[in-house]
Amino acid sequence: MPTDTKLDTAAERRLARQTTRDAVRKTAPKLHEVIKYPHPILMKKGEPVTEFTPDLAQLVEEMFDSMYAAEGIGLAAPQISISKQITVIDISFKERPEDKLVLINPEVIDRRGKQVEEEGCLSLPEIHEKVQRDAWVKVRAQNVKGEFFEVEGTELLARAMLHEIDHLHGILFIDRLSRLKRDLVLRRIKKLQKNGDW
Ligand code: CO
Repeated sequence: MPTDTKLDTAAERRLARQTTRDAVRKTAPKLHEVIKYPHPILMKKGEPVTEFTPDLAQLVEEMFDSMYAAEGIGLAAPQISISKQITVIDISFKERPEDKLVLINPEVIDRRGKQVEEEGCLSLPEIHEKVQRDAWVKVRAQNVKGEFFEVEGTELLARAMLHEIDHLHGILFIDRLSRLKRDLVLRRIKKLQKNGDW
């Protein structure tokens, strides 16, 4: 049996495809610049995606690459100046391949409970504040092929999905803080800008 020239199992074929994909990505990783607050695109609602083309799949891969390069666990298209309803998430940062999540035109369809944890954002470097979020959410979204699916999450996954879906509606995590806390953060940002550290 010619097992040396042929990939016999689905797992081997999958691995081969993955290896090819990684090789392609390593030679040509297109990284997008992540824009910072107060860029107006961050405050704008993204347009829904209506065409599920190979260009979209390519953009999603570039978003993952850009997110990893910036050491983030989530990135929304408006953060790279593309005002569309696309977000990528990987809460284990490459540790578990199954954690890679692409949400296109996502919608929270159910939510329960509350959690309060610290959040940060690639568009708000150095700012970390506790934010109240739903403890459990169910999200309906489309994948790169346009197929609808549902995903449920608790803890960090719920938080990441809610944070990223907020981005698609022009909402930043500092908009979820109390007036007083938000004002303090904005003052800190002004100082950082003044010192050329923003
Ligand atoms: Co963010």
